[in-house]
Amino acid sequence: MPRLLLVSNRLPVTVKVEKDSVAVVLSSGGLATGLRRPHERSGGLWIGWPGDVSRLSETQRTQVEARLAEERCVPIHLSPSEVSRYYEGYSNRVLWPLCHYMLERVPRQDRDWEVYRKVNERFADLVARHYQPGDTIWVHDYQLMLVPGLLRQRLPEARIGYFHHIPFPSSEIFRTLPRREALLKGLLGADLIGFHTVSYVRHFSGSLLRQLGLDTDVDRIMWEGRQVRVGAFPMGIDTEAFESLAKEPSVLEEVASLRRSAEGQRILLGIDRLDYTKGIPRRLLAVQRLLEREPAWRGRLRFIQVAVPSRTQVSEYATYREQVNELVGRINGQYGTTQNVPVHYLYRSFNEKQLAGLYRAADVMLVTPVRDGMNLVAKEFCAARPDDDGVLVLSEFAGAADELHRAVSVNPYDVEKAADAIEEALEMGEPERRERMRALRAQVKAHDVHWWVSSFLGRLQGLPSVSVRKFQG
Ligand code: F6P
Repeated sequence: MPRLLLVSNRLPVTVKVEKDSVAVVLSSGGLATGLRRPHERSGGLWIGWPGDVSRLSETQRTQVEARLAEERCVPIHLSPSEVSRYYEGYSNRVLWPLCHYMLERVPRQDRDWEVYRKVNERFADLVARHYQPGDTIWVHDYQLMLVPGLLRQRLPEARIGYFHHIPFPSSEIFRTLPRREALLKGLLGADLIGFHTVSYVRHFSGSLLRQLGLDTDVDRIMWEGRQVRVGAFPMGIDTEAFESLAKEPSVLEEVASLRRSAEGQRILLGIDRLDYTKGIPRRLLAVQRLLEREPAWRGRLRFIQVAVPSRTQVSEYATYREQVNELVGRINGQYGTTQNVPVHYLYRSFNEKQLAGLYRAADVMLVTPVRDGMNLVAKEFCAARPDDDGVLVLSEFAGAADELHRAVSVNPYDVEKAADAIEEALEMGEPERRERMRALRAQVKAHDVHWWVSSFLGRLQGLPSVSVRKFQG
């Protein structure tokens, strides 16, 4: 039977080794969270990295393999040097900051390219080994930009999709990459290339024209005698699942207890991976600015910021963590009392139930990345508000801003205006809050993750087969 083969750097579950114990936990991040349920429904395979298993004993390894097999996950094991050079190095020190417009963070030396290329080859080999005629292959994200091209060499007739989960930057930024042509050609191995927004599609087409002299005809590019399609497919979440979680009695009890502990206060909430793209310091500065200029809010605000540990071996993330720690300390030192502090900073992971409780308890949700491909947290917040209440403050630099028009829009670089936006959200009257939240929820419901999967796969599977397209070309 034809199957869906999902291919991504990270599997939906990650192996965590702590001292003598080993656990298989759910992975964090938009891709893993978003695709988990479609994978459960599809009955296909998911090929990716389960995290570091090098320190596991034989028995532990067998247990982990069995658990992964249960989830229909096919692991690719990376050596410590591959983790450091392909994952932390080229993917997260070069491509990640570059796609988020942070050129100053890209290292001057291009040292890890070879390992990135080799690991992409390993992925392509493994996928080719599991492929059966008729299967659909769906490759995900910037860690695997060469995989579509490598697969096309191995499986010329296969149906291959690629989705880019982070921003695709303007061609002015992309052209600074020494390996720009190889990466673009890698993507062109796919039959369909998807992005979250129309601007990312435009930027990608701009790079194709500039670097490879290729014209995009509406959504079609001719490459090596094949037609390649490109399109915007904004990713959604499992809205229904989040909504029912937010209605569970145990979650509601948690919400009530949180609200009791914050009596007389308004709850501001931020939930992010601890990543320098998420704009946490500027968000903290906006809250600080509000407290500074409006003494009436002092003691009346509780800003809960959850920061999920991420990419802790990459030095930029450690420096960023220190910056956030320092800022939280400064604000709490300045505006805290013996009774309470304005910023409740939680550096750890939370499960979906706990997140649903936090979303439901919040008065105002702050999603203010300085750059973000989509940001599914914004959508989760709306899904978790069946009470039609709560205000979303959303950065205009998140892909989600293209869809969530009834959020309070903010430029996170403008601290003064961001403070205004927080204040506007805090003071918004109930009728307006409800009207906005209803519109947001309607959008998030109509365009959930299952809609996203079927619109991408529907388009991919509806394309004529490669041989027919070659002929038509
Ligand atoms: O959404 C972008 C993304 O890079 C995904 O590819 C990934 O799942 C997520 O962020 C988390 O990052 P990492 O896998 O590096 O922990």
